[in-house]
Amino acid sequence: NNYVAIMAGGVGSRFWPMSKTSYPKQFLDILNTGRTLIQSTYDRFSNFIPEQNIFVVTSEEYVSIVKEQLPHLPEGNIVAEPERKNTAACVAYISFKLKKMNPNANMIVAPSDHLIGDLDLFTDTCKKALDFTAKQYAFVTLGIKPTHPNTGYGYIQFDQEKNHSGVFKVNRFTEKPDLSTAKEFLSEGNYLWNSGIFIWKAEDIVDAFWEHFQYMYDLFQDRIDDLNTSNEAQAIQDIYEKCPSTSIDYAIMEKSNNVYLIPSDFTWNDLGTWNSAYENFKKDEEMNASNSNSAILVDSKGCLVHSNEQKLMVIGGLEDLIIVNTPEALLICKKENEQQIKEYVAKVKEVK
Ligand code: GDD
Ligand code: MG
Repeated sequence: NNYVAIMAGGVGSRFWPMSKTSYPKQFLDILNTGRTLIQSTYDRFSNFIPEQNIFVVTSEEYVSIVKEQLPHLPEGNIVAEPERKNTAACVAYISFKLKKMNPNANMIVAPSDHLIGDLDLFTDTCKKALDFTAKQYAFVTLGIKPTHPNTGYGYIQFDQEKNHSGVFKVNRFTEKPDLSTAKEFLSEGNYLWNSGIFIWKAEDIVDAFWEHFQYMYDLFQDRIDDLNTSNEAQAIQDIYEKCPSTSIDYAIMEKSNNVYLIPSDFTWNDLGTWNSAYENFKKDEEMNASNSNSAILVDSKGCLVHSNEQKLMVIGGLEDLIIVNTPEALLICKKENEQQIKEYVAKVKEVK
């Protein structure tokens, strides 16, 4: 009864210009491992979830990339969305679909843009979560020990007393707090980051939509007869036209009283921004990380230089910059402004 739904419809805009709408970061091998991020995600789960139970939910425009990168995935397991409506719609769609396929479906929902180490530990943690949700109405997330007040993550406060063999009851889930709140959480100490990897029964999360997001529940429930039939694409098109765009974190996780957490010790890195990539790149004595033989750094410190161009680059007397050079665009910004890259991309769209 165990399934995994890999969410792979994001555009990775904070990773622009390397990640772009036509070819987002989950389909890139950012750290030169030999496998793209989505391929590594698939490998991780195919270890303990049968191949026919692995689903990928993505935008229509990426279906051919997914087929190319995951040739073993059965064609029916690529679930295409006609529009990008963020993760709440994506989770509702796949959960209604799996619930109809198998009323006992127990599932992991996972992002496609993470780096995870300690595979055995990761597998054990996922199995423990699946065992837990198989037996009760619970929405489990895997929590990561925070290292800095990152404003791009969800923060989870949990009850250290309410321990069910390593699964803890969550008191409060706060998605993407502002910087001062994130700093407060960090100093309070009993907060973990939301890894974005969720475990629950399809039936239970569908119920949570009914409870917390009735509007979206009704959209899918009204067309339940069409799911897993030849009418599905049309139904989904009609539903998505009306679907609000919001994330599962805001729609359900912040609201539900049945959230649980497994503090997790596997190494985890959300390759969400250039700084998270910087942490993983090799650095020289001046803490510059460059992937390029054609970049010369002089009197510069803490810069990330990423280029796939031949043209010589000389970077002199600069500190803590992100410099990314692709055939289409050159980005230069302060490392501390990495969350704003999303806004820069919006500006690029205005100009074009
Ligand atoms: N199918 C589909 N459709 N997938 C999507 C969509 C969509 O419209 N939007 C995003 N995704 C995919 C992304 O490709 C990514 O793999 C995953 O869903 C999560 O989306 P992000 O946009 O990367 O979310 P985030 O990083 O801002 O925040 C989430 O992850 C953090 C940890 O990485 C939240 O769950 C946070 O609470 C969490 O800390
Ligand atoms: Mg992310």
